[in-house]
Amino acid sequence: MLRALEGIIRETVFMCGIVGCIGDRRATPILVESLKHLEYRGYDSAGIATLNGAEIDVTKIEGKICDLETIINETDNACVGIGHTRWATHGVPSSTNAHPHVDCTGSIAVVHNGIIENFQALKEELTSKGHIFCSETDTEVLAHLCEEYYNGDLEQAVREALLRVEGSYAIAVISDNEPDIIIAARKDSPLIVGLGAGENFLASDIPAIRKYTNKIIYINDEEIVRITRDSVVVSTLQGVKVEKTVTIADGSIIDAERGGYEHFMLKEIHEQPKALRETMEDRLYELEGSIDFKELRSLEDEIKGIESISIIACGTSYHAGLLGKYILEDLLRIPVRVEYSSEFRYNNVLSGQKSLAICISQSGETADTLAAMNEAKSQGYLTLAITNVVGSTITRKADEILLTKSGIEIGVAATKTFTAQILILYMFGVYLARLKKLTDVETSRNIITSMKSVPGLIESLLDNISTIEKNASRIGETDCCYFIGRGLNYPIALEGALKMKEISYIKAEGFPAGELKHGPLALITADTPVIALVPEGKTYYKMLGNIKEVKARNAYVIAIANASDDEIVKYVDSVIRIPDVDELFSPMLAAVVLQLIAYYAAKYKGAEIDQPRNLAKSVTVE
Ligand code: M6R
Repeated sequence: MLRALEGIIRETVFMCGIVGCIGDRRATPILVESLKHLEYRGYDSAGIATLNGAEIDVTKIEGKICDLETIINETDNACVGIGHTRWATHGVPSSTNAHPHVDCTGSIAVVHNGIIENFQALKEELTSKGHIFCSETDTEVLAHLCEEYYNGDLEQAVREALLRVEGSYAIAVISDNEPDIIIAARKDSPLIVGLGAGENFLASDIPAIRKYTNKIIYINDEEIVRITRDSVVVSTLQGVKVEKTVTIADGSIIDAERGGYEHFMLKEIHEQPKALRETMEDRLYELEGSIDFKELRSLEDEIKGIESISIIACGTSYHAGLLGKYILEDLLRIPVRVEYSSEFRYNNVLSGQKSLAICISQSGETADTLAAMNEAKSQGYLTLAITNVVGSTITRKADEILLTKSGIEIGVAATKTFTAQILILYMFGVYLARLKKLTDVETSRNIITSMKSVPGLIESLLDNISTIEKNASRIGETDCCYFIGRGLNYPIALEGALKMKEISYIKAEGFPAGELKHGPLALITADTPVIALVPEGKTYYKMLGNIKEVKARNAYVIAIANASDDEIVKYVDSVIRIPDVDELFSPMLAAVVLQLIAYYAAKYKGAEIDQPRNLAKSVTVE
């Protein structure tokens, strides 16, 4: 029974961002500012706890950080504090369930990102000892466990509490009995510490505290850290001291401004040409027909011997992987499987000898993908991560990494990171085909030439979006729509549908066009617009046949077709043009069109585009 309950609770998990600071400055503005950078991890409730020496002051609210700002105590001069932004998969977000959570006396406060899997058993045990619980969260057991074990040493209490816990956590704990320390710890959820002069910080990731310091310590699993104004001491849960290296965070303070755009998503769609150019920079050698990934040099022999590939990812990254399969199988003539991370790890995974697992995650923090990568490693796969975030957990766990250079992506809907993932998979295909001597210089040179043209073509597409806006408004008026494509454009149809449902809440599905007649055609009526991806290519005429099928059922059909295609107008109700491009790269242009259609449909409906309901940018729980 208890196990069953824990199973249910595992579904009722929280995925969150945590922060903390200790120094001589007022903590509240620092915590609030830091939390704003973590809203990508969840934004359904938020809270802070500050310590003014005498007692802990907790402020929390259902809603976003901007809502929290409206209720914080402006006269609070505390210089020590912790904070939290939350995302719940199920259950009603509420101020009671918001973090921080406190013990019975309000003397210990805890923020937590992760899942305490055995919380039900612990809660029953603690309740029988007289502890009073206020929330429905798993996290609250941590506060009561610390209270139970507190004997004048907060670090020791946290240590003992964590030894009782099964699951994942990044936590920060304060106590009014020891007002000059913050204790933090992690297992399977990210945690970093930032070093300042006479002040120190902690957070789920670097951007949250980058404004205050660039000196970073990465905390590893089952490490506990004692933070004061002047010191940071790390040890294992068993109490063994750990020497840590200080890393200097790259780059300048992250510019998270919308730069004149109404939404981050629109800004990020427009940033695609730049993201693609930067991802290609210093890696393409057009004349030689080769791609140089310097980061892969030490593994070159192993990579060359690869006989099969598994691509593992979630959501949009999975769609990039599906496209990768087409391209890699075509260039490498070896089997490529694509699997959802959440499925892969629970399958009876085959041995990965001479196999490469390409794990794609823009954030590098997606729990399912990290767990799947661990599983792949344990089965002997060589692991290669494709990610956009330097220093993310995946970069520290994979055998090697390939970075997309899209710059930070704030909108929950992935856009510029998607096209960069596709690009890097194409690049990897050419790289490996040349390494394995499967293509000649001329063939790969031609691919590289087309590849280099893509950013410019996206620019010209972005210069004229009036037809896209017009069609998007029409879709904004409907309840559901369908996306169809074949071959390379089938994954783009899936991605178009995901974008649409994610930000506009319009029911949307993507299908391989050839599958329509095997079931989905039953859904087609005059009220269901169909967006058909029909760029020039080997399935063009097959697509025209499928368009006829949906037209015969009175669907309003919007085609995405090449600029030079004079034929298509005879078959559809509206045409959105993409510049003429090598068939191989039309999916990247079509993807940009579908991002814009979703964006303008959502805008038409007045939806909250950058932070859609129930979602988070980075899914850090399984
Ligand atoms: O950070 P990741 O690439 O691992 O994220 C995977 C998915 O959660 C993500 O792509 C999600 O589907 C996007 N919000 C879609 O726009």
